[in-house]
Amino acid sequence: MAHARTHSSAPTAQAPSAASLCALHEDATCRSCPHLSTPLPAQLAHKQARIAALLADGANPVPADAWQEPAASAPARFRNKAKMVVSGTAAAPVLGVLGRGGRGVDLRECPLHMPQIEAALPVLARTITALGLTPYDVPARRGELKHLLVTASPDGDLMVRFVLRSRRHVEDLRAALPGLQQDLPTLAVLSANIQPVHQAIIEGPEEVVLTDTDRLLMRLRLPAPADGGARAPVAGAARAGARELPLYLPTRSFFQTNTAIAEQLYATARAWADTDTGTAGRPQRVWDLFCGVGGFALALAGPGRAVRGVEVSAAAIDGARAAARLMKLPAESARFEAGDASVLDPGAGPAPDLLVVNPPRRGIGAELAGRIEASGAERVLYSSCNPGSLVADLARMPSLRVRRARLFDMFPHTDHAEVLVSLRRDR
Ligand SMILES: C[S@@+](CC[C@H](N)C(=O)[O-])C[C@H]1O[C@@H](n2cnc3c(N)ncnc32)[C@H](O)[C@@H]1O
Repeated sequence: MAHARTHSSAPTAQAPSAASLCALHEDATCRSCPHLSTPLPAQLAHKQARIAALLADGANPVPADAWQEPAASAPARFRNKAKMVVSGTAAAPVLGVLGRGGRGVDLRECPLHMPQIEAALPVLARTITALGLTPYDVPARRGELKHLLVTASPDGDLMVRFVLRSRRHVEDLRAALPGLQQDLPTLAVLSANIQPVHQAIIEGPEEVVLTDTDRLLMRLRLPAPADGGARAPVAGAARAGARELPLYLPTRSFFQTNTAIAEQLYATARAWADTDTGTAGRPQRVWDLFCGVGGFALALAGPGRAVRGVEVSAAAIDGARAAARLMKLPAESARFEAGDASVLDPGAGPAPDLLVVNPPRRGIGAELAGRIEASGAERVLYSSCNPGSLVADLARMPSLRVRRARLFDMFPHTDHAEVLVSLRRDR
């Protein structure tokens, strides 16, 4: 396994200018990065202004003085996953997207991918050819290989998943594993995902794992917060500072796309959570709803806290539990449950002292927002990848007011934004 950390958290002087990053952007063959020609600092200033204006306009507005400095991404090599549509032929596969007229556009050299992903893609293309994996032809509904999904950990370890129409080639892939491990020494997870259905959903429900493990260890390093971290740490909690956060990513689980920005996101959540005690000697009750593999919950876990994570994906919950064991957290201080977070009621029992929510793009919705509003929860951290649904959800919780907000540039060169807000109940 590789051990050199490979992503950086900020634009560097050596980084190529955005305009020269990508020939496919220059000639408009690929439209995934609409703002690539604008220097990243200017992009970020514009994004910050746009999001702040949107959130200032809602019925439960984010005040201008709540905003902290945005977290800037590196301009390139920040994406930890490649989701490649496979087209072309088995002899000459195209790995990328379907462009105009359904023609395959090869994104093997996309400058956004981490270097380990870029290095792996030609090896995987050769494997496709060697095994005769015919790319799936969408209009003709023929062929076997639909997608190639590649994820890289901060240490450069790889998870590679072949999304196949049927199990026909699974044993061929199994036989190819030793050769692949030789060519890709950091290959940690290889699997075949079976997606028999002709539809836009990338993955199917069945995963055949071909390696000893089905999970990638993502060793995150949370930076010390710029504001010095905890002003009033939770009793017994370690002082804020850089620290490791090991997460396990099983196949079929969500992970934030930009690892360096995810590190800043979790570190900021921890720093903001640490500014409050208010539990009169008992452990602080923290809920993390839509917890995925447990990033927020495990960043917050530690002495003086009892965290509870809830997530619909059982695979992700397995990963969160394994990471909690790796961190040697006592069972009572970190509990994870597979289930529907949107039906929970924080007001039904002892209310959480801190509620973290990080829902999909649709937001938490009217019902959960209504129950949080009616509950005794004093503090909420809401991390959103969709400012539109965030505005709507904030309006549904008028007793909770935004005290701090921060933009995380998880998706540079696009209009997408991740926003974390800290809310406190008005008395
Ligand atoms: C934006 S991701 C956040 C994951 C995690 N907080 C993180 O930092 O990686 C949203 C997560 O919500 C999960 N999810 C979607 N609907 C859900 C529901 N009704 N109940 C619980 N989890 C849900 C998804 O599986 C996904 O893991």
